[in-house]
Amino acid sequence: MEKLWVVDFGSQYSLLLVRRARELGVYAELLPWHSCPPEVPPEVRGVIFSGSYASVSEGPPLPASWIGQRPALAICYSAQWLAAHGGGAVAESHAREFGPAEVTVLEPDSPLWKGIPSRSQVWMSHSDTITALPKGALPTARTDKIPFAAYEDPARQLYAVQFHPEVAHTTYGKALLQNFLYHLCGFSGSWRPEDEIETLVAELRQAMPTGQALCALSGGIDSTVAALLVHRAIGERFHGLFVDTGLLRAEEKNQVLAAYKSVDLPVTVIEAQDRFFSALKGVTEPEKKRQIIGRIFIEIFEEEARQRPDVRYLVQGTIYPDVVESGAGVSAKIKSHHNVGGLPDKLSLQLVEPLRRFFKDEVRALGARLGLPTSFLERHPFPGPGLAVRILGEVTPERVVRLQKADQLFLETLQRAGWYTRTWQAFAVLVPQRTVGVSGDNRSYGEIIALRAVDSTDGMTAAPTFLPYEVLTEAARRILAEVPDITRVVYDISTKPPATIEWE
Ligand code: XMP
Repeated sequence: MEKLWVVDFGSQYSLLLVRRARELGVYAELLPWHSCPPEVPPEVRGVIFSGSYASVSEGPPLPASWIGQRPALAICYSAQWLAAHGGGAVAESHAREFGPAEVTVLEPDSPLWKGIPSRSQVWMSHSDTITALPKGALPTARTDKIPFAAYEDPARQLYAVQFHPEVAHTTYGKALLQNFLYHLCGFSGSWRPEDEIETLVAELRQAMPTGQALCALSGGIDSTVAALLVHRAIGERFHGLFVDTGLLRAEEKNQVLAAYKSVDLPVTVIEAQDRFFSALKGVTEPEKKRQIIGRIFIEIFEEEARQRPDVRYLVQGTIYPDVVESGAGVSAKIKSHHNVGGLPDKLSLQLVEPLRRFFKDEVRALGARLGLPTSFLERHPFPGPGLAVRILGEVTPERVVRLQKADQLFLETLQRAGWYTRTWQAFAVLVPQRTVGVSGDNRSYGEIIALRAVDSTDGMTAAPTFLPYEVLTEAARRILAEVPDITRVVYDISTKPPATIEWE
């Protein structure tokens, strides 16, 4: 398959370049700078060199031998590195130029700048700056502060910009990337994630020739789509397991099972509510709750695996950002996967992760093509340990019911007002603090329900959703009227960081 390589030098925006290319219908992959082979493989029709946290004098080297092999777009650090090592010069500065700047196009006939107005806003984030261009290059754009905001050397298929076209604040960033990908690399822009289903299924079939596969289905989109692909590939050798922990949202089990049924995904339901509740009895410490839930989950899974003969594979819904975060990228942070960690080794199972190459929105597109209902695809993310991390203090069946009811009323209110799909994640939290209220002529002391709704793209950062007061007060009114033992409803307006999305 023809593709674009984005070579990662450690910029926080590297993965965003991959996303942008794919949004433009070009299949792209991130390649850490230290993994560059000497020759660019034939299927790679173009490369983008990312920015970096480093400055040119101390940062990682570019694969200089690639210049001229394929059309290349160098961004920020990479533009500077190529200048510094190609006969030009870069001045180091300790003042960082960060934020918007106005760029003026000097070469409107350059294919990179085709259709872009002569003046527009770009996003800068650099401290070094180019003071002399590499040999053979000409400037194509400048700003008031820097003379070489962009340069090119068409004879060597090299294009460079000192700003970040991949961020939304660069008004014509997408147009510039499109020009590079379509006009300079010759990509057609016709790649679509859902067109890969047949290839994925064929690959899975080949990779899993015999033996049974197990998959823990959580009701989330990723595990469901991964399961659907494997089920398509190996049919009845696939076994889906859905564990009812007793910590699911109201109606969740029925909704999820109905969705699985609608796409003929076979699943065994394991009723384990009592097991979870008795293990959680008296436990109030958040991390302890998580550990207990994780441990029981693994125990159940082991029991199920041992009951079935010839289980060889464990299917997981790991997606591209998880893979990159776990070490494929340069600015990697190790993230432990919550799902069923440790199991593959313990049971000597082979991990099967069909979604490793896909972003979340692409997984949704695959799910839609595989027939999952829209209401299922629009569901908000839900943590593995379920309502346990939203019930502060002890988790008891009574408190679970109280929270389920409040959460359901909140989500129903959002749905009726058209806000459910406009917020990234919304939920209620049960706070074990007694506060005073009046009911009839008497004082009452009940617990607090906190409502949380956040805007986010990946859960790494978040801001409170600006829900209208009418929607919030309607949710509060219904919760206070219909959920016993709640005397107060509050709205959480904390950003992440420093707060997290969940309360525990
Ligand atoms: P935080 O609270 O870390 O949440 O800001 C970020 C995103 O991750 C979800 N989350 C979890 N998911 N197991 C999970 O599978 C967990 O223990 C867990 N804790 C948080 C959270 O719902 C949000 O979408």
